[in-house]
Amino acid sequence: MSILITNIKQLLQVHDSNVTIVKGDAMKNLPVIENAYVYIDHDTIIEYGKMEDYRPIEADTVIDATGKIVLPSWCDSHTHVVYAGDRTSEFVDRINGLSYAEIANKGGGILNSAKKLQDTSEDDLFEQSIKRLNELIAMGSGAVEIKTGYGLTTEAELKMLRVIKRIKQESLAKIIPTLLAAHAIPEEFKSKKQDYIKYITEELIPQAAKLNITHYVDVFCEEGYFDIKDTEAILEAGKKYNLRPKIHVNQFNILGGIALGVKHNALSVDHLEELNDDDIKALKGSDTISVALPGCSYFISIPYTPARKIIDAGLPLAIATDYNPGTAPSGNMNFVVSAACVKLKLTPEEAINAATINGAYAMGISNMYGSITRGKKANLIITKPMNHYSEIPYAFAHDPIEQVIINGQLL
Ligand code: NIG
Ligand code: FE
Repeated sequence: MSILITNIKQLLQVHDSNVTIVKGDAMKNLPVIENAYVYIDHDTIIEYGKMEDYRPIEADTVIDATGKIVLPSWCDSHTHVVYAGDRTSEFVDRINGLSYAEIANKGGGILNSAKKLQDTSEDDLFEQSIKRLNELIAMGSGAVEIKTGYGLTTEAELKMLRVIKRIKQESLAKIIPTLLAAHAIPEEFKSKKQDYIKYITEELIPQAAKLNITHYVDVFCEEGYFDIKDTEAILEAGKKYNLRPKIHVNQFNILGGIALGVKHNALSVDHLEELNDDDIKALKGSDTISVALPGCSYFISIPYTPARKIIDAGLPLAIATDYNPGTAPSGNMNFVVSAACVKLKLTPEEAINAATINGAYAMGISNMYGSITRGKKANLIITKPMNHYSEIPYAFAHDPIEQVIINGQLL
């Protein structure tokens, strides 16, 4: 199955040599071919160029993209798509003035979702979750990280992992599973947190690792959840099974989790709504990418990640949805790209870099995803007609997408 797209108004994120991350000032540069074509065969990008250089190519499907933009699919490097039910009642509590912490303290929050997930059958959980994933794909996401973390028991975490595995097998999208081993402290361990850490490090992680579904470990490093010492114990337990950290840090408080993540060679540190100069210093010279989640800031009214500080320090930045029932019940990367411009003060070029190549880097897959490069996977977005790619973030809350191609298949 081959597809030829011709007369593309702007073909975005084109790299002849394989770029795997863009940092600092380089994020302002988004390579574009005006009036372009792209040819894909099976799941691979084979050829592209200017229409004036186009020589006829036989293809099973030809798409005339006159007036439209073509770009790599969004790479959403931070989601909790697998969950049960919703938390609409907490949404109303928050409107009425309660904070995230106050809601969690009265039995809401992650514990609420964990209870629901534990009571949901594996099949039901799969059906609820794949439906959400398919919505994300229709909104342009072609590679999606999915975390566990609403299990809180070995049994329920393994159930989540098996559901993610099934999604990975059945979906055309690229799925990257992460074991969010330590997301919250269950009620029965409230006064004996150390016993829960022991349970996670000695039972949950070893059993989860045996399934061989994930290469990443996550921890919610935060006041009232897991402190620096707890986080380090969990990262060290993960390391024994070759699980690389991708961690939740600095969402509400600065505990030193960024330096800890860098010390343990984290692939990504995510959230960073709170950020100080020591954090920036720790990130410099590391292979760790920062991930901002503006949908979470929007939904629970907390500060936005100071992304300018990160990029202006020469560092790379990715953006992701954080799609979850508590702090970001939306998996729309188009909104995230727009919010990154409006609220994080990224230019459209920086935001598109953050949502494509750098999102792929934050999942460890940027050698095969995130740019239009010969040999990379054919995950593409074809937009509706527009004058310029800046309209994608500009026309916020509009749906810019006309068609998506995932793994070489036109949906
Ligand atoms: O990324 N902060 C930790 N985890 C999620 C929220 C989880 C929840 O409230 O269900 C987040 O915001
Ligand atoms: Fe999250």
